[in-house]
Amino acid sequence: MTGILVACRCWIVLLAAGLFLCFPSADALAREDTTLRQCSPDGRLCFALTTVAGVLTYSVDRGGVPVIDPSTLGFMLRGAGKWGSAIELGDAVRSSVDDSWEQPWGENRLVVNRYREMRVPMVERRATLREIRLVVRVFDQGLGFRFEFPAQDQLVDVMIDEELTEFAIAGEAEAWWIPGGESNRYEYLYSRTAAKEVGTAHTPITFRRVDGLHVAIHEAALVDYSAFWLQRIEGQRFRTRLAPSSQPWKVRREAPFATPWRTVLVGKDAPALYAASDIILNLNEPNRLGDVSWVKLHKYVGIWWAMHLDEWSWNSGPKHGATTANALEYIDFAAAHGFASVLIEGWNEGWWSESGRNFEFATAYPDFDMERVAAYAAQKDVAIMGHHETAGNAGLYERQLEQALDYYQRHGVHAVKTGYVADAGGVLREDPDGTEQWEYHDGQFMARHHVLVAQRAAEHRIAINAHEPIKDTGLRRTYPNLLTREGARGTEYNAWGEPPNPPEHEPTLLFTRMLSGPFDLTPGIVSLAGRDGRPIPNTLARQLANYVVIYSPLQMAADLPQNYRKRPDALAFIERVPVDWERSRVVAGDIGEFAVVARQRRHGSDWWLGGVTDDSRREIAVDLAFLADGKAYTAEIWRDGPGGGIDGDRFAMLRETRTVTSRDTLSLTMEAGGGFAMSLTPID
Ligand code: NOJ
Repeated sequence: MTGILVACRCWIVLLAAGLFLCFPSADALAREDTTLRQCSPDGRLCFALTTVAGVLTYSVDRGGVPVIDPSTLGFMLRGAGKWGSAIELGDAVRSSVDDSWEQPWGENRLVVNRYREMRVPMVERRATLREIRLVVRVFDQGLGFRFEFPAQDQLVDVMIDEELTEFAIAGEAEAWWIPGGESNRYEYLYSRTAAKEVGTAHTPITFRRVDGLHVAIHEAALVDYSAFWLQRIEGQRFRTRLAPSSQPWKVRREAPFATPWRTVLVGKDAPALYAASDIILNLNEPNRLGDVSWVKLHKYVGIWWAMHLDEWSWNSGPKHGATTANALEYIDFAAAHGFASVLIEGWNEGWWSESGRNFEFATAYPDFDMERVAAYAAQKDVAIMGHHETAGNAGLYERQLEQALDYYQRHGVHAVKTGYVADAGGVLREDPDGTEQWEYHDGQFMARHHVLVAQRAAEHRIAINAHEPIKDTGLRRTYPNLLTREGARGTEYNAWGEPPNPPEHEPTLLFTRMLSGPFDLTPGIVSLAGRDGRPIPNTLARQLANYVVIYSPLQMAADLPQNYRKRPDALAFIERVPVDWERSRVVAGDIGEFAVVARQRRHGSDWWLGGVTDDSRREIAVDLAFLADGKAYTAEIWRDGPGGGIDGDRFAMLRETRTVTSRDTLSLTMEAGGGFAMSLTPID
């Protein structure tokens, strides 16, 4: 087909000899531009889709104040040019949902799902006539939109070179962000800069405007598509940049399909932004696994920290950590203190071969007797947490996956920590003919890989804790065996990282990374010492607070057993703190400065609180209004003692008990780099 402009009002398209179709010219489109608006149930947050001279544009406002300034939408399609200009909007189909659903596990048992939806066909007024639909769901605290590629002759085998979704942040803002596309994946300290100084960032990225409004950009339901990085184009205007693939295109799909949801969360302050993050879950598909009572949330210990301290090694040899004898000792410790599993890393053949080419996921090193360890664990009612480090060789892992999962299932393993240690762009996959290709951790191939692993693991009743993962986009709703993941700087950086995680790390994570989902932080280093005794810039009470502040349905007690024996007060807290919650709320907090989080035990009436501060000492007033009215509670508090803090005695910790009610406000001091933990148990 050929298009020729024959008049200022009309595109003439030659379909066949003698047959012409006439579409409006750009000039005519300018006059026919339409705007379709969709507002939230409370009417405050509104999304407007419009065409400006046929160019597809959207904007977002809240109470009439712009949140996202006009931003263009579009795609670069391989072999098919750009899509996004000369667009005409069709009729919007509108609907609304107002319900709630129950999570099998999570920060909140019930999730309210209330939104208004608008679905708009968008057709090119060109010869190609390609149609893409935009679906937007507007909640009171944020929104998501995605593109649907319907089945059509003009777009069957869709190869996306780039997605051109823009986010022009309205109003001067600061940003908290980590770099996208850099070698260390998501493991960077967060930078706080003016929004106009961001480079290319991973999401979630959080903005705070001068008027105090908090805005986070992320995505939901990243399935069979590349993750996007947010690249600043100019000023505060950002555009999606899809993670690359080994192929010339970044995404290849057969229509019909839908992209992941592009999300904008808003909150009047940092706690409200955290509460808005339920939207990410709401935009994912419901549970596809059915009964997941076999998914066991729990606390675990493991043959782990000693390797990061360089006292033991993963590979076999004189310092080998995963020996039968060490495993039995850890199982005894777990059984004595109520930890449900023991992570065992470095038990299998092939450790740290180049690109993981020698890993064997069902063959133990000679000094590790899996049969004996598994039998002993079963006898003590403790499970082994499996470990599949791949060094980024996802191809080899996929080849051995069935055998590897079967092996673990036979040995009573119900959770496996996976690992993809490799630089960004260093994931190895195998074509069916054996050709090797290099991929990104967050490209389309790995998006598929993580879903494949979740599905296969579910068949073996195994849950997954992925390290060096793809970012979380709420897929735990669809696959509730995707329990937790890394995807940020974890505690291992306190063993060997340069620098270690500073005290502002967790109060930053809560309002950035944690908007996406659970994080296997691996807290509980009660020795407060890294490699060669290097001090960790935290207090003892702060290590406890992290169990409540940073949510994970699997929580590690990461330190060595001998260190816990020296700190029975701290261990008593770790033994008791729950991992599954009825409801959660951020009581107070500011990004990178401090946070106080309260969570009620799932199906229980006791509450648990954690407070963390940056390197400033803070006096904090904790309003207990969230407690049930008319009931007295025993508050047990673990807090920084006088003279504590990172410049004082980091181990100074007071444990005290008080009686409180919902009418009380507790005044608590967090020393620099410190925090507090608290349990509130109703008195019958
Ligand atoms: C990096 C992971 O984050 C860490 O937890 C693990 O011990 C090592 N890789 C080895 O797999």
